[in-house]
Amino acid sequence: MNEIYKTTSETGLDKESFPFKLYQKAKKFGIWNPEEIDFTKDKTDWINLNEKEKDVILRLTAMFQAGEESVTEHILPLISVIAKRKELEEEMYLTTFLFEEAKHTEFFRKFLDDVTESKFDLTKYHTENYRTLFYEELPNAMNNLLTDDSDEALVIASTTYNMIVEGILAETGYHAYFTMLKRNGIMEGMQNGITLLKRDESRHIAYGVYLLAKSIKNDPSLFEKIEERMNSLFLIAMGIISEIFESYDEMPFGLKMEDFTDFALDQFNKRFEKLERAKSGIIDMTED
Ligand SMILES: [Fe+2]
Ligand SMILES: [Fe+2]
Repeated sequence: MNEIYKTTSETGLDKESFPFKLYQKAKKFGIWNPEEIDFTKDKTDWINLNEKEKDVILRLTAMFQAGEESVTEHILPLISVIAKRKELEEEMYLTTFLFEEAKHTEFFRKFLDDVTESKFDLTKYHTENYRTLFYEELPNAMNNLLTDDSDEALVIASTTYNMIVEGILAETGYHAYFTMLKRNGIMEGMQNGITLLKRDESRHIAYGVYLLAKSIKNDPSLFEKIEERMNSLFLIAMGIISEIFESYDEMPFGLKMEDFTDFALDQFNKRFEKLERAKSGIIDMTED
């Protein structure tokens, strides 16, 4: 039974709250349409690539593609926990979150269909560490919320999803992919899509940082659980990046390990500091 509806109570919506502001941003910036991305130039570029270059593009795209599918598929249990807790502004923001992940999934499949015309199975590009994270750790942590809606289960799920999968892998991967394409002057449509997609992801990650900081503020003992989870999954995330490089004697497009790691570590450290500050009750969401 519902005892109260917030929007008809004297409080109304908390328009000053961080999630409500994210919701407003999402309505403004998250409405781009993958259908409208022009891949005409990408098609010509694709034809002119050599086999090794094609392989690297397919490898990275196959990783992003299943990654986006997995985050689309597995966000619902988290939204359900937030709804049960009656965090209305958060739930409103999360409606845009799932919509955006669905569009990201659509975007990469459009590239595979229209540009690379891949009709074959791409799962061979899902290496050992990739499988550990996307086939096991992420689905398990999220599905666990179906039967355990405790604070601990929630922060483990959010750490896995927002801090590691989005905060390390997606952000790093998209940054490196974008840099590689730009440096080589190819795949304009993909570059444009990634620019839009990165903007969506930064809102997703900001929400995760907010959720974790809020949880730590309420119960500082959660910080240790989050830190432990981050450390164990961080190694898997780095393993995924290494496996990309191990697959080639010489990396096509001059792609470097630093293209992946430098930016990510910097971002990761900034977010981690925010979580540390939440232990003393400070929630700092500036810059997000
Ligand atoms: Fe995404
Ligand atoms: Fe995301």
